[in-house]
Amino acid sequence: MTQQSSLAEKQGYYRYDPNGLTNKGSARLFPYTGQDGSTRYVLSKLYEIIRLQGRLSVPCSLLLTEIESSIAKLESKWQDLSTLLVDLRFLQSDWLNFDLPPNEQLNNDYVQEKRKFLLKIWIASAVAQVVNRNLPESDQIQQQRQLFLHSLAKSFVPTPLPAIAQIYERDGGLSDREFVRQRLAGANPMVIRRVQAVDAGLIQALASQTYKLANGNVIDLLKSAGENCLFIADYPLFKDLQVTDLQSGKYLGSPTAIFYRHERGLEPVLIELLKGRVVTPSITGNEADDWAKAKLYFQSADANHHELISHFCYTHAAMEAFAIATARQLPSNHPFAQLLSPHFRFLIAINYRANAVLLAPGSALDQLMAPTLETTLKLSHTAYRQKSFWYYSLLNDIELRGIEPQLLPDFPYRDDALLLWEAIAKYTTRYLQQYYPDDKAVIQDTYLQAWADELGAPLNTRPKSDFPQVPQWLPPEWITLSGINPQELPTHPRVPGFAKIGSLQQLIDIATILVFTCGPQHAAINFSQFDYMTYVPNAPLATYSHPNTTVSLDKLLPPLPKDLLQMQLTATSSGIRWGNLGSSDLIQFFDQSDRQILAQFQSDLRGIEGKIQVRNQQRFAEHNIDYPYLLPSRIPNSINI
Ligand SMILES: [Fe+2]
Repeated sequence: MTQQSSLAEKQGYYRYDPNGLTNKGSARLFPYTGQDGSTRYVLSKLYEIIRLQGRLSVPCSLLLTEIESSIAKLESKWQDLSTLLVDLRFLQSDWLNFDLPPNEQLNNDYVQEKRKFLLKIWIASAVAQVVNRNLPESDQIQQQRQLFLHSLAKSFVPTPLPAIAQIYERDGGLSDREFVRQRLAGANPMVIRRVQAVDAGLIQALASQTYKLANGNVIDLLKSAGENCLFIADYPLFKDLQVTDLQSGKYLGSPTAIFYRHERGLEPVLIELLKGRVVTPSITGNEADDWAKAKLYFQSADANHHELISHFCYTHAAMEAFAIATARQLPSNHPFAQLLSPHFRFLIAINYRANAVLLAPGSALDQLMAPTLETTLKLSHTAYRQKSFWYYSLLNDIELRGIEPQLLPDFPYRDDALLLWEAIAKYTTRYLQQYYPDDKAVIQDTYLQAWADELGAPLNTRPKSDFPQVPQWLPPEWITLSGINPQELPTHPRVPGFAKIGSLQQLIDIATILVFTCGPQHAAINFSQFDYMTYVPNAPLATYSHPNTTVSLDKLLPPLPKDLLQMQLTATSSGIRWGNLGSSDLIQFFDQSDRQILAQFQSDLRGIEGKIQVRNQQRFAEHNIDYPYLLPSRIPNSINI
């Protein structure tokens, strides 16, 4: 099973799904490897197409129904069999690699850990089912939540409950202070930015009225923006959603929040819920109720952005292209593959699971989120194409968002991430300098350039062998019709903004971005889900009423079954941590000097651990909550959950 395969063999295993290139994110693996998989795909796709066109003769219909049912039976038998084999510790048997390339299969350790955790989720879910059905629905939801979380709490050490549940209890809901804090240290610290020239039109429109701060002082938005004191959080991607893009009864808006920075930190000034409909902070009467609802609509948009964009699109999907190209283009003993591969461990396997469990029709995300599945995938595709590879760099992201420390002090995600970025950059620099003395050495490495070509060249210029191949005996018109052998591939590259590698520094920057995104960035976004999203009132994945309809705050929240489903999803997604950043168990260098460089990296990470612990004591003292997600001891080496 661990036998080394040649580069050509590996390229055969790793083919791209041409259908997924335009619609489903960065670069999806073809669902079945090898010729059998392609045949299965062509036949089922063909059946689907001609059935949709309504042009089936009776014999053809019978035949294709038979084929489809055989495929379904086969799939279900494989599922049963693989479950049995997991129990029998045979998951890594050679013959079981029917879906993924052999080296991408989850290993036994991982599967056992995952199964243990799932068992806890199932028990907690069963406990939650004993809710008293005679209570009003809002009380049932509350009881169900308590039953589920308290049952699960036994498995979460040292946090007994999602951190935010306790904050809500303390404050009687979402306070303004906590609303602000979550922009900087919550599950999605990737949205807030300083108001800059590009926002001039919006600020001009909003500035037609005056705004009061909590201390009674009136502020002028234009003047404040000019003084770099105005910050904004918005979701332009959701702006053009039509009624038909949303599931019936659910709502997702595109709210904009404006914050003012004074010496004590940020303070919310307003939320624009719909164009021209501005809600401002208030603590009394109907206005207080409107403000609480505006914050909830905002939190829900942020939760959608978190799952779909910051989490799925900008970590899982974005890194998949690199995991595939590394396996396809670099020999396993190539220095760049040695550096990167440990950070791609199980990425393809977890993304493959996500395709089936999270992104398929009827999946958890389909049930929980407001957009239709088709729109969800389109949004993800648009977001992916909008972000150039170079903005996955923490430094470029900070500059683009205008959130430099001197302009916005005390930003826990940014401050801790900068420590890790610096350590990773030092590690990749020292490692790569050993193999590439100058720019010429980088340019002349044909493997490296082939790797960059695969990622940066327009897709329609790539060789046919990158895409699935089907046996000769299938009629060519069937193959064309199924779309497996497309005549026209997209003209964009697999990775936006990626091109040939022209210098050593560029290579170092690429490696730093990849290690950072697979490690700290994913950890910050993924493991905060439990604290901020498992407690559903803080971050519902859909709201259940339009802002123009007057309903109570409770009625905006997901109903009983959806509340449980969101708890199950977010607790499961942040449930296990497999492998630690920089661990020698995962990064196994042969060369002595490489091992020394790794040891230095490990030592730097230990230093960062201490620094963040001190920062967290301070954060806890100030807010009763810390920011533990970027403690190196809690960062996995790869995206595997
Ligand atoms: Fe994840």
